Amino acid sequence: MPENSATDRAWRRCAVHEHPPKEILRPFSPPAPEKTLTGPGPSNCSNRDRLSNRLTLALSTSSHGGMEACLGNLLEPGDTVLIAKCGIWGERAADMADRIGAKVEFLETAHGVAFELDDLEAALKRCRPAVVFVTHAESSTGMKQPLEGVGELVYKHDALLIVDTVASLGEEPFFMDTWRVDATYTGSQKVLGAPPGITPVSFSPRAECI
Ligand SMILES: Cc1ncc(COP(=O)(O)O)c(C=O)c1O
Repeated sequence: MPENSATDRAWRRCAVHEHPPKEILRPFSPPAPEKTLTGPGPSNCSNRDRLSNRLTLALSTSSHGGMEACLGNLLEPGDTVLIAKCGIWGERAADMADRIGAKVEFLETAHGVAFELDDLEAALKRCRPAVVFVTHAESSTGMKQPLEGVGELVYKHDALLIVDTVASLGEEPFFMDTWRVDATYTGSQKVLGAPPGITPVSFSPRAECI
C-alpha cells in the first residue's frame, strides 16, 4: 500500500501496533522444539498414524469446513448417501448432504447407541449408497462407534466411507488405511488440543479418483 495514501492513513489509525513489538523480533528462547506441526510442511512430526494418503492437508476452517470438504467432494447431486445417525453430527451431515442435492438415507439408532455391522449391511443392501457417513465419537452423547469391519463392508458394497474424527483423533486409535476409510476430517481444537481454526482432512487414493 503506498505510504501516506488514504488507506495507509486509515490503517495507521486502526492498527494496534504500527510496527511489530520488538519481543517478537527476537529469536525464540528457549529454542523452538525440534518437532513442529506449523509451517508450510511437510511437517517433521513422527508418522504416528502410519497414514500413506497423498491427499492429506490442513484446511483453514473449523471442522464444519472439513465436513463440507468431504461431503462436497465425494457427493454429486442425485447420489445416495447413507448417514449413521446416532446423535447430532449425523443430523448435521444430513443437512449438508441434502443441500448438495444428495438423496439422504439413514442408519438410525437411539442416541448414544452404536450401530452393529449387520444393521449396516442391511442398510447398504437397501439403499445402495455412493457414500456412507459415520461419526467415530459422537460428542453429543459420548458414544464411540467401533469402526473395525465398517470400511470392509462399505468397500464390498462399492461405496466410499467418510468418518468424522473430530472428537476422537489423537485419543482413540484410528487406522485410516487398514480400516479402509476414504475420507476423514478432524479439528485442531478438540482432542489434539491445539488452537482452533485448523482442520486436517485426508482422502484415500480411491476417493481422489472421484
Ligand atoms: C463430532 C463432531 N463433529 C463436528 C464438530 C464441528 O466442529 P467445529 O465446531 O470445529 O466446526 C464437532 C464439534 O463439537 C464435533 O464434536
